[in-house]
Amino acid sequence: MKFQLKSDSISNLSADIIILAVNKSNKLCSSLNLNKRLKDELNAIIELGDLSMSIGSASVYPIIENFKRVCFVRIQDKDETTSEDLLKLANNIFSSIKPIKAETIILPLKQFINKKVNEEFASKLFTRAALDKFYEINSLKSEKKVKDKNNQIIFQSDKADHSSIKFGIKEGKASAQGANLTKDLGNLPPNICTPTYLANQSKKIAKDYKMKSTVLNRKQIEQLKMGSYLSVAKGSREEPKFIIMEHRKGKKTEKPIVLVGKGITFDSGGISLKPGAAMDEMKYDMCGAATVLGVMKTVGELNLPLNVVGLIPTCENMPDGLAVKPGDIVRSMSGQTIEILNTDAEGRLILCDALTYAERYKPDTVIDIATLTGACVIALGHHASAVFSKNDKLANNLLDAGNESIDKAWRMPLWDEYQTLLNSNFADMANIGGRAAGSITAACFLSRFAKKYDWAHIDIAGTAWNSGANKGATGRPVNLLIQFLINKTKTKN
Ligand code: BES
Ligand code: MN
Ligand code: ZN
Repeated sequence: MKFQLKSDSISNLSADIIILAVNKSNKLCSSLNLNKRLKDELNAIIELGDLSMSIGSASVYPIIENFKRVCFVRIQDKDETTSEDLLKLANNIFSSIKPIKAETIILPLKQFINKKVNEEFASKLFTRAALDKFYEINSLKSEKKVKDKNNQIIFQSDKADHSSIKFGIKEGKASAQGANLTKDLGNLPPNICTPTYLANQSKKIAKDYKMKSTVLNRKQIEQLKMGSYLSVAKGSREEPKFIIMEHRKGKKTEKPIVLVGKGITFDSGGISLKPGAAMDEMKYDMCGAATVLGVMKTVGELNLPLNVVGLIPTCENMPDGLAVKPGDIVRSMSGQTIEILNTDAEGRLILCDALTYAERYKPDTVIDIATLTGACVIALGHHASAVFSKNDKLANNLLDAGNESIDKAWRMPLWDEYQTLLNSNFADMANIGGRAAGSITAACFLSRFAKKYDWAHIDIAGTAWNSGANKGATGRPVNLLIQFLINKTKTKN
């Protein structure tokens, strides 16, 4: 898909589809300067009265003149279209266009600009939405889909706005490419997307963007004394890999932001075996890792002037004669001992050692991203990722980035009152805290390994993929994290 800029008036352009906004009073935007014939024809369709009144709804009609079709989209009157409305309408536009053979799409941008939404933001969001909606699962179906690679989206606007629109396109494209990589990795079957596969992906990204990638094998992980992480990998024939990525484009002295991603390439539950229904979806248990890889790709694409480190502990969680058992006690890299009461609470067991490893970077901030708990899905459903942090500023920065990028997150408590639920009679802590507040006790567990730096945990169990007929990875929360990092580049002194 290509993105272009044109400043010609609409009457001088031609395309397969033109996108036109219609407000609640059934009026087209006055900035369009349409010729009379086109205007009359469009108004005739609008007057039929079958355009939905709901904000963001999009529908396609054939027209004549220099456009084969028009896609009408309903917007608010006056200046009331919010950034959230904009994402919704952009998604609807590209979903309704996708099944149609439309190689050129004219999008007059002015129609969507108001006090809350500027040209840069609008072009970024449209670019992101187009690449998101035109994303195709890299499936293994024998019948190959014919891909429409020649789509062109032409943003029509005044010359004066071109540089901000170009910037918007650049950021939108880079974020979508990262998110689409995250989706690709998530959607791959677990017999292909193994720890070794993820490690090779990190090498590829590092090569493409001149980063450093180091991959530690089982022996090297043993030397680091990551006993908690290794206990999870014990039941699998796949070798665990500890992936380290470093993007160093900030000042040498600047402390890095460390992103840690849960990389369980298949979570069977281990000896505490999961029930069979929907167990295939536990291939998505590496979406935290895929998010880190996606973010690193975007960071490389934008060449952000920051130091960013990605850490990915990755392995399978499988039952086996040698697998870790309920009752086993393991020693983490931090020295703290853990009584494993449920082998299905494995995410925290691999993450805790990665969090200890992160200390060596003397980080500015550490953020872990994990499909950590089913309880998180019960608490927040599928709309918001859960943010846990003792640091109000960090938590708020993440929530703000989520709102700005419309990849929303909601804060959960991480109060010390919950810590006692992890008490064990036999070790420093148990790996589960019982049924109550399951996503919070998981975060409490992690907090015990993240005391030496500012830290936040993002539980993406409800947001990383969709189930049912639309089963597929969402690429979340790549956009949130990229926005967070972009904001970091702006607040640096
Ligand atoms: N990967 C799962 C969490 C999960 C489950 C995410 C379903 C999305 C959908 C995690 O490893 C897990 O199994 N957690 C357990 C923890 C429990 C044993 C304390 C859970 O949530 O049931
Ligand atoms: Mn599990
Ligand atoms: Zn898991």
